[in-house]
Amino acid sequence: MNNGNLFIFYSVLIIGTVCAEMVPFELCTAPNPGQCTVHEVRINPCPESVDHKPCKIKRGKSASIEFDYTTDFNSSSAHGQVYWESDEGDLPFLGMNTQACQHTSCPIVTSTRQTYAYTLDVAKKFPARTYLIKWILRNPQQPEESTEMCCFRTKIKLVK
Ligand SMILES: *[C@@H]1O[C@H](CO)[C@@H](O)[C@H](O)[C@H]1NC(C)=O
Repeated sequence: MNNGNLFIFYSVLIIGTVCAEMVPFELCTAPNPGQCTVHEVRINPCPESVDHKPCKIKRGKSASIEFDYTTDFNSSSAHGQVYWESDEGDLPFLGMNTQACQHTSCPIVTSTRQTYAYTLDVAKKFPARTYLIKWILRNPQQPEESTEMCCFRTKIKLVK
């Protein structure tokens, strides 16, 4: 690569990094907060985060969602699923790849900061509105109510 190309390469790299915006989140209370620290949640694209608004994701498009976490448990495998906190309870976001080891490195080792990176495809059939979503990354070898999980909530807005 000559210097010009190198410059473009680094510019793209830097812009790409800046575009992944840190978004506000909170730990879950239900089913439980989990034995886990969530350090940071990033969504790309999300220009709305500057105004502290939920990220807008166009239906029919995808968004990259990443979070950094540290668990207080070991797990050889992992299950990841997004839920929509609706009035009728938590509804799983259909069509996800729940095999979390394809999106974070396994085994998950206690006290080790790791990143989970997922590209969320948003089908056109989802109604356009703001969703409170809950992300659960858990040890599939434990029952679903186990505290061996990471769980946080954030908002996204699906738009036409
Ligand atoms: C978790 O795994 C690490 C590394 O393999 C090990 O040192 C540690 O003892 C394990 N902790 C528990 C609670 O199983």
